[in-house]
Amino acid sequence: MLQRVVRSTVIDAPIERVWAVLRDFNSHEAWHEVVEASRIEGNERSDQVGCVRSFTLRDGNRIREQLLTLSDVEHKSTYCIVEATVPLQRYVATVTLKPVTDGNRTFWHWESTFATPPGMERELRDMVAQGVYEAGFENLCRHLQQGGDLRATGRAAAMPQAVAMRARRVAIERYGGPEELRPQEAEVPAPREGEVRIRQRAIGVNFIDVYLRRGWMPSMLPLPGVPGMEAAGTVLDVGPQVSGLLPGDRVTYLGPQPGAYCDLRCVPADWVLRLPASVEDDVAAALLLKGITADYLLRDLGRVQRGTRLLVHAAAGGVGLLVCSWARRLGAVVLGTVSSEEKARVARAHGCEHVIVTRDYRFADAVQRACGGADVVIDGLGGAARDENLAALARRGHWISLGQASGPLAPLPADALVAKSLSFSRPVVFDYVATNEQLAERAQRVWNALADGSINAPPIERCSLNAAAEAHARLESRATIGALVLVP
Ligand SMILES: NC(=O)c1ccc[n+]([C@@H]2O[C@H](COP(=O)([O-])OP(=O)(O)OC[C@H]3O[C@@H](n4cnc5c(N)ncnc54)[C@H](OP(=O)(O)O)[C@@H]3O)[C@@H](O)[C@H]2O)c1
Repeated sequence: MLQRVVRSTVIDAPIERVWAVLRDFNSHEAWHEVVEASRIEGNERSDQVGCVRSFTLRDGNRIREQLLTLSDVEHKSTYCIVEATVPLQRYVATVTLKPVTDGNRTFWHWESTFATPPGMERELRDMVAQGVYEAGFENLCRHLQQGGDLRATGRAAAMPQAVAMRARRVAIERYGGPEELRPQEAEVPAPREGEVRIRQRAIGVNFIDVYLRRGWMPSMLPLPGVPGMEAAGTVLDVGPQVSGLLPGDRVTYLGPQPGAYCDLRCVPADWVLRLPASVEDDVAAALLLKGITADYLLRDLGRVQRGTRLLVHAAAGGVGLLVCSWARRLGAVVLGTVSSEEKARVARAHGCEHVIVTRDYRFADAVQRACGGADVVIDGLGGAARDENLAALARRGHWISLGQASGPLAPLPADALVAKSLSFSRPVVFDYVATNEQLAERAQRVWNALADGSINAPPIERCSLNAAAEAHARLESRATIGALVLVP
């Protein structure tokens, strides 16, 4: 008859921190006191399904176990004993983590079934339940309290290396078209004071990356240079004087210096936020910069409220869709321009009531007819839409010029505003998240808005990091809907 052992506990640490340890099939050597020494056979990765860990217990027994399943989404893994000097037969175990409702603690469920030789049932059940599971709960808690990283144990294999490491990145050697984006290898030094080194899993693509690549802002991206302002991933190691971030933390970041088109990067800890378990890496990369932009546009600059007549250009774009759904939730009358019927359908589904389909930046008449003029225009188009924007605005309207997808905006004489007492803003997101507190506050509003349905997550188009040139070409050709994310 099969024996069954089930144990569970609550760990006082966020799920991502606990999972970062447990998903590493060889980590038990670092935290479980019964394990004397452990290694993964055949140089396989310790999170590779199928890998075998071979370990010795302090009592001299030897065990080989194979990882059968590993799900980062469900925070669950299954493994079995393939060979052991302990008489546990047909042993299969499952580890499952769930976030406790407050989000900062973790429910850990550990269970197994196995057969034993006759007469040894009780002894082996107690050994697994108490010696392995209950002791393991205690040992892991202590390990996490001691800092949660593997440094304390001196275990080199899983310990993030305090040395330079090789990384893949996409860089430009000269300014120009998408074809200038070329994959290459580079060395990433250990994090310096105040920095963390992040293993990136998803990188947000933004239109500013195109401006930088074209050489429109050379002081921001000197040559050779790596574009990209944001990404999500896992902290690999932290430099001196960093508090609140640990190896294994799932994080996202946004910063004013480009360099995110890579799989490994050191960034100032001030740019970095821990990610809630509910936000996947690619959603974070798709939403952080664009969602925070929507937040400051609607709350701070546009002061959008019930009844505000809001015109959103590129309404089916990365920023556009977020602005539409959030503004609609605030009660605004949302009008938007898009260049195709397909984009119109998506914009409507995200809350844009009046969609104007135009490829040649003619929209002012339609706006005046629909609502008598816009109180606020959110304009990422720039040059080609200049005069139409002036004509589409209502008296005392506010033109927020946040980008130049169609080309640079010609200088605007103050007198162009006087006829309707218009105002004009030229904001940049980085000034709205100049400190880690501001970044955290705005990001939290974005995650909350996502959770309560105030914003619909936009469609996300995923491209491999090596295909960054194709991603840029699609963005520039007006082919994309929603957000683009690069996956290393
Ligand atoms: N200042 C800030 O803080 C800030 C922050 C984030 C974004 N932005 C700006 O907001 C705008 C949207 O950014 P995003 O990253 O979300 O990009 P996006 O909206 O996903 O893509 C740009 C869109 O612009 C429209 N467009 C019109 N003429 C174009 C042209 N000649 N070439 C390319 N696109 C053209 C296209 O939509 P249609 O085909 O439907 O017209 C295109 O899909 C950009 O101008 C960006 O610079 C500014």
